[in-house]
Amino acid sequence: MCGIFAYLNYNATRERRHIVELLFNGLRRLEHRGYDSAGISIDADPCRAPVTVSSGAVLPSPPPLVFRQEGKIENHVSSFYHEAVVVELDLELSFTSHAGIAHTRWATHGEPSPINSHPQTSGEGNEFLVVHNGIITNYMDLNETQLEGAYALICKSPYYPNELVACKRGSPLLLGVKETGDMRTDINVESDLSAEGHHGKPKEYYLASDANAIVEHIFKFDSDKSRRLLRPASVQRALSTLEMEVEQIRKGNFEHFMQKEIHEQPDSLTMTMRGRLIRGGEEKAKGILLGGLKDHLKTIRRSRRILFIGCGTSYNAALAAIPVVEELSGIPVTMEIASDLLDRQGPIYREDTAIFVSQSGETADTLQALEYTPNQMELCALELQTLLTAPSPEELICGIHLNAGCEIGVASTKAYTSQIAVIVMLALALGDDSLSTQQRRNAIMDDLYNLPSKVRDVLKLDKDMNELAALLMDEQSLLVFGRGYNYATALECALKVKEVSLMHAEGIVAGEMKHGPFSSG
Ligand code: F6R
Repeated sequence: MCGIFAYLNYNATRERRHIVELLFNGLRRLEHRGYDSAGISIDADPCRAPVTVSSGAVLPSPPPLVFRQEGKIENHVSSFYHEAVVVELDLELSFTSHAGIAHTRWATHGEPSPINSHPQTSGEGNEFLVVHNGIITNYMDLNETQLEGAYALICKSPYYPNELVACKRGSPLLLGVKETGDMRTDINVESDLSAEGHHGKPKEYYLASDANAIVEHIFKFDSDKSRRLLRPASVQRALSTLEMEVEQIRKGNFEHFMQKEIHEQPDSLTMTMRGRLIRGGEEKAKGILLGGLKDHLKTIRRSRRILFIGCGTSYNAALAAIPVVEELSGIPVTMEIASDLLDRQGPIYREDTAIFVSQSGETADTLQALEYTPNQMELCALELQTLLTAPSPEELICGIHLNAGCEIGVASTKAYTSQIAVIVMLALALGDDSLSTQQRRNAIMDDLYNLPSKVRDVLKLDKDMNELAALLMDEQSLLVFGRGYNYATALECALKVKEVSLMHAEGIVAGEMKHGPFSSG
């Protein structure tokens, strides 16, 4: 996935070196999303004479500088400093106000190379520069229409010095505002950076496609949570506090983030179920409270079919939980890999409920499937942690957040188990009106309640798992068998092995073992 980051200091003097380092650090915080090239754009030294480009246009400020490089961020950093020496860039130069943009690219269209990297430029003079995260589906005929697809864009131009224009649709974009004077900081989505918001006070703005790139610059504050940026009523947006700690983006004592996140599962599961799994004492009622869904349960219960739509691990999580959904709701459930649904243009009916499962809320295939789905239907999304990363919330009728905390490891672990827990809670909520399944529901709720401590027990096998991995690591291929609920486990296990070890691995329904894989020929 690509990542975008921007830093704007307004009336807060900063040296160019500081600005550049801040942009590079933003890029480092986006590394976990996967990338193969990166780039930044900063201002050139101010010059008094107006600059004229060959088209005859007069730029009110000099063309911004662009530095792009393929490979690791650290390659990009060292090539920047090398070039800075060659072109005698003054890194100690101070800017009272400055707008810098940055991008990590994961090549999908066009090979990784400096020219394909972002910021992309409109041409000579860098009159308009853009960093983009997402997918523009109508890129062939952009001259005639407006943008379609999922995107978050940040634009910079010498015609608008010290300003950035940012917009989003479908892809996440966060704005962190730091009032440099009193150190109060809020996080907002989709805000503009109009002059009305500045009020002359020194401020620093951070824009990012991922909260990880912002969290270290901000400070928690307890009071006045509903403060609004001062701006015309038409563009006022509520500010919300980012529920994230710097610890979440640090590895602590673990060797890597994936290991840390595997060990966080007892806590992430507890967080996912907190306030939703209501379980009193022996005599007290048990139940499920899914705030985002409670007004829609009746409609979902009336559906003719429930479709779960997702990709990769999110698909597997839904697959793991659908037997409980079928059992408790009595509604037929089907599974769709988002890209395959689109390739086949599979039928979806008005009486269906489509549930989109995604950890990030950014997966292009899933977002396109969301767009493809008739919008008069009931749509739900199960996403990771916070509304701020919701896919096109305006297009969703309702959703449930995972509340699993942030997942930095590219290979999903704790989000997978939390997704399963959420879908099981959804099944319990759907079956809530049936007396005949009460006992079964109570038993499942008891098991959910005990799940974090069971996971804690399983994690004690860490050393044994290490030994098993050492035993298997020289093998060519791994077949993982599972039946019933554990078919999904087999698929997910094979996916993780492929993803982290590049060993061929395949998940197979155990009942299919004798129908091909074990044929003696
Ligand atoms: C594997 C993994 C992927 C994602 C898939 C969908 O560890 O993380 O298979 O599950 O790319 O992503 P989301 O869930 O963000 O829509």
